[in-house]
Amino acid sequence: MEVIIYPTYDEISKAAAAVVAETVNNKPNAVLGLATGSTPLGLYKELIRMHREEGLDFSHVTTFNLDEYVGLSPDHDQSYHYFMDENFFKHVNVPPENVHVPSGTTQNYRAFCEWYEDRIDECGGIDVQVLGIGSDGHIAFNEPGSSLGSRTRIKTLAKQTIEDNARFFESKEDVPIYAITMGVGTILEADKLLLLANGANKAAAIGAAVEGPVSVACTASALQLHPDSVIMIDQKAAENLKMREYYEWIQANKPGAPNTS
Ligand code: GLP
Repeated sequence: MEVIIYPTYDEISKAAAAVVAETVNNKPNAVLGLATGSTPLGLYKELIRMHREEGLDFSHVTTFNLDEYVGLSPDHDQSYHYFMDENFFKHVNVPPENVHVPSGTTQNYRAFCEWYEDRIDECGGIDVQVLGIGSDGHIAFNEPGSSLGSRTRIKTLAKQTIEDNARFFESKEDVPIYAITMGVGTILEADKLLLLANGANKAAAIGAAVEGPVSVACTASALQLHPDSVIMIDQKAAENLKMREYYEWIQANKPGAPNTS
């Protein structure tokens, strides 16, 4: 687990975009795992800029999103389909047939979830998975109590998550209670995990995820089990980290890339 603390949100976004761009440049048909929420917005903005100004090419890329609210159709302005179209897909050249976002309106959730898992496998697995973190430590919609071996399925949202996400809806009552989400086990199979967080309201969750026990109480702590997970955070989100100085020391003394490859 690599913890990198950046001075600003902007720098987190640029560093995350550089990792995604490197993945796509090294493997034009890369499979990207994408996340919603306000945190990755800066990353998407930077990738769009790189596409426009530097020719970053997504024409052979395949994407899988982490989750979707149950009951919201793709044209609902709070659906994750809509979010991804507005904030990323309509600005870049990922072929629409290569885009996968879980369906919030399927007639058979069990079958859909199995299909989604199979589809990830058929595409060769996820090369890099972008993650945010909920204030209760969840990744995707794997709320506290989710099995660390869980697969794509329906999940009941925690009250805290409904409260956190109510800001995007007209009222708390409008926030869906269920979501369809990749499982923790599904996420852990990606080759690389990139978790982004900023702001003081994420400090407790980051502390538990990085230095707490691996536990269903904070599903992001499962990243400790992954051989290539990178936690990119700002100073505020790093406030609860007891080993903060050590993480900064590691970054300050990191061997230069040219001599280590
Ligand atoms: C939702 C999403 C998560 C996201 C979290 C945090 O619950 N399902 O994938 O990480 O919100 O969102 P934000 O980045 O807006 O704080």
